[in-house]
Amino acid sequence: MHHRVDLWKTRGKDYTLRDIGMMELGFLWGSQANTVPSVFWMVANVISNTELQQEVLQSMSSSRKGKSSEPFALTEDFELASLLADPIMLSCTSEVLRMYADSLSIRHVEKDTVLQVDGQEFLAKKGTNVIVSGRAAVHMDEDIYNEPEKFKSKRFTNHNLEKTIIKLDNANEEVQKKTFSKNGVVVRHNLLPFGGGAALCPGRTFASNEILTFTATLLTYLDFKAPAQLPSIDITRAGFGVLPPSTSYMVEMSLKKEF
Ligand code: HEM
Repeated sequence: MHHRVDLWKTRGKDYTLRDIGMMELGFLWGSQANTVPSVFWMVANVISNTELQQEVLQSMSSSRKGKSSEPFALTEDFELASLLADPIMLSCTSEVLRMYADSLSIRHVEKDTVLQVDGQEFLAKKGTNVIVSGRAAVHMDEDIYNEPEKFKSKRFTNHNLEKTIIKLDNANEEVQKKTFSKNGVVVRHNLLPFGGGAALCPGRTFASNEILTFTATLLTYLDFKAPAQLPSIDITRAGFGVLPPSTSYMVEMSLKKEF
């Protein structure tokens, strides 16, 4: 921690210890509060559905490169780059973020600005804040997503989250194969779990990889007996990041004999 305080001080800014404490706490919160419940929903959605679990294991098997004698040696057993590109795992990760991520993007308005929203114009006055919830505004919109309240493991196959959130503004970019639209118009920023623009989450690739590899590790080395019924979402936490479950989800797990 002392090293991190020194690091902040070398940044050339006049940070007080209080400033540094606030930034460190924010970083700790941002890096933990979202990935932990994301991993929960990812694992729970897969293990609660035997068919999907088999499908995921089958798909992951094409990234297998070895068979270590010790459990939990994911990097020895899998070709990591290939695993991180697994189409079903990637689609499930995007679907988890669509359904459960509920952060707010908050922007301070520095000059009077007219915003165009759904064909209407809104004046954002200088000095006010504009707050956008990607989940409420886009992710749960049933015109964009069919049955938005349902977890659909293949909803995002052939769809690139990274391109959606930052690159599609460039007309020359390769257009992703699967698009989502509303009233016949393609919704370019159809997935906003990591916000956007200047404050776009810098931890997004790390976070997606963390969710995917953690889930792959559990599924590869453990057997699960899990109820088909998942807990409901604790919506009272709306706006505070990835939403937690409202109750516990009790499962039985044991080390696989063969992995
Ligand atoms: C599923 C996991 C995560 C989600 C859903 C998430 C979401 C977000 C969102 C919505 C923002 C605000 C973007 C905006 O204002 O438009 C943000 C900012 C940020 N996130 Fe993440 N995040 C995740 C994981 C992480 C991780 C693992 C780290 C660090 C290792 C991290 C570090 C940050 C930082 C430093 C910011 C502030 C960026 C700035 O203000 O310039 N996040 N994140």
